[in-house]
Amino acid sequence: DIRLGIMSALAEEQSGLIDAMENPSRLVHGMREYTAGSLWGIESVAVLSRIGKVAAGMTAATLVEKFGVTHIVFTGVAGSADPDVQVGDVVIADSLVQHDMDASPLFPRFEVPLTGLSHLPSDLALSDRLAAAAGKFLEATSGPRLHRGLIGSGDLFVHDGKRLAALKSALPGLLAVEMEGAAVAQVCFELGIPFAVIRTISDNADESAAVDFVEFVRTVASRYAFGIIENFCRS
Ligand code: ADE
Repeated sequence: DIRLGIMSALAEEQSGLIDAMENPSRLVHGMREYTAGSLWGIESVAVLSRIGKVAAGMTAATLVEKFGVTHIVFTGVAGSADPDVQVGDVVIADSLVQHDMDASPLFPRFEVPLTGLSHLPSDLALSDRLAAAAGKFLEATSGPRLHRGLIGSGDLFVHDGKRLAALKSALPGLLAVEMEGAAVAQVCFELGIPFAVIRTISDNADESAAVDFVEFVRTVASRYAFGIIENFCRS
């Protein structure tokens, strides 16, 4: 049986899920509130990681080591890095890269030193199940599309077309940028925990990113997270 860790960076990316939990119990540890309970029959622990790679990495490790989760799903929003990926679309990571990792010339750019990897793969079975859940959710809305591919994470809110273009040319196939997924990927890789990352596009990581991000998070982010996780747990 699985015990699912559900992570998001912001409250709006997870709201509703806590209320939907049966027999919730809360525990505060390391400046985060972990809520354990049952979500549509699946034993789950939900937590807000806060923002950035270190915040997400420490939260993922705590979910595994202290709360005994067997699988992790990260849900949240991201900036688009591809003209085909539009605001409102959903991206599920096949693999994730820490786009601000650069220990060259000691290691190739983007490679996480001593892992031998720059592209950290997510768990295929978990991602497939999440994709089916997201597809079902999007069917009901008509318009937004589901994409699968490369997500880049860094301690950077990308809000500059030139910066984004530079990242895209260094990372072929990059679909979206955010600030946590690849840190969760590294922790899960090192601990041997299957994980998946699903992101709704809130902005185009350009000069209007900040305004679009705030508006999207305020108005729609939580509907996606709730609907997709509900379908996931029921599947
Ligand atoms: N999350 C949502 N939009 C983002 C952006 N433009 N850059 C980094 N993380 C994001």
